[in-house]
Amino acid sequence: MSHPLEQLRDDALREIESARDEQTLEAARVKYLGRSGSVSAWGEQMKTLGKDEKPIVGKLLNEVRNAVAAAIEERAQKFRAQKESAALSNIDISLPGTPDERGSLHPLTQMLDRSIDIFRRMGFVLADGPDIEDEWHCFDALNTPPEHPARNEQDTFYLPDGRLLRTHTSTVQIRAMQTAPPPMRVIAPGAAYRRDEIDATHNAQFHQIEGLYVDENVSVADLKGTLEFFMRELFGAETQVQFRPHYFPFTEPSLEVYVKSKALKKGEQWIEVAGSGIVHPAVFEAVNKARGDKAYDPEKWTGYAFGLGMDRLAMILFDIPDIRLFAQNDLRFLRQFA
Ligand code: DAH
Repeated sequence: MSHPLEQLRDDALREIESARDEQTLEAARVKYLGRSGSVSAWGEQMKTLGKDEKPIVGKLLNEVRNAVAAAIEERAQKFRAQKESAALSNIDISLPGTPDERGSLHPLTQMLDRSIDIFRRMGFVLADGPDIEDEWHCFDALNTPPEHPARNEQDTFYLPDGRLLRTHTSTVQIRAMQTAPPPMRVIAPGAAYRRDEIDATHNAQFHQIEGLYVDENVSVADLKGTLEFFMRELFGAETQVQFRPHYFPFTEPSLEVYVKSKALKKGEQWIEVAGSGIVHPAVFEAVNKARGDKAYDPEKWTGYAFGLGMDRLAMILFDIPDIRLFAQNDLRFLRQFA
């Protein structure tokens, strides 16, 4: 004869097995294992049993409780699996996926990366300075007197507190020399700002790479060699470079740099790409004064400097007709450089 507990277990297992959905299964769980369920009731009844019976029935009760709990869990898992596969059945795995939009670097950034790479190979390191500058770093220290037209409010964005948006990256020459003594070999890429009439070749914000090299016996030959190497790496070995005399307050002599290359669309045309020259002694003196020493003694040290027009270089290299395209964020334009 079987024990009533075994009877109870068989009833429970049958009921669980025949449960058609989660609600029926839950009802069965409450009925048998719930606080006042029939299996739980046996727990209460245990107290009334004699010493001999107690361990035997206790063991059986445990087995029954475990068996019922395991059956419920197994059934519940079946329902969960059914639910999941029902949800998946609506998914057509043969449909094409949603592709991730692939980003790419802005043409100016690409130009910058290439340029920095070339200068790095020649031993230049990066220097940096703020876009919002004071007049001293932008003009005075660069030997540009108060009456110089570049300082005019018509040409420069001034802030109400007298500071300004730097009109060139030459400010970083001064900041670099204030920070460290010679010898010095730095490039400083960055934005510059001018109140120009905006057209296909002028924008209020544009980009430059400033270069500064200070050592003993630096000459125009060093400057020419460096920039010629740079231009040929960038535009191809057939590139011709021309230096034309010019005037900048912070260099003497001063030279404008032109390139011409058959590899380019405008193959027969000389295009201006940079200003450059030999650092003016007055610039070293201004730096010394700010430093409070004679680290940049113009009797001992000489240097060359240059400022490359990044937008111009990118326009030449990628054959871009209008500088404003760089800032318009038009994906039809940008995708061409992806
Ligand atoms: N700062 C000049 C400009 O923006 C370019 C320039 C000329 C930079 C001569 C230099 C330099 O470093 O030596 O027009």
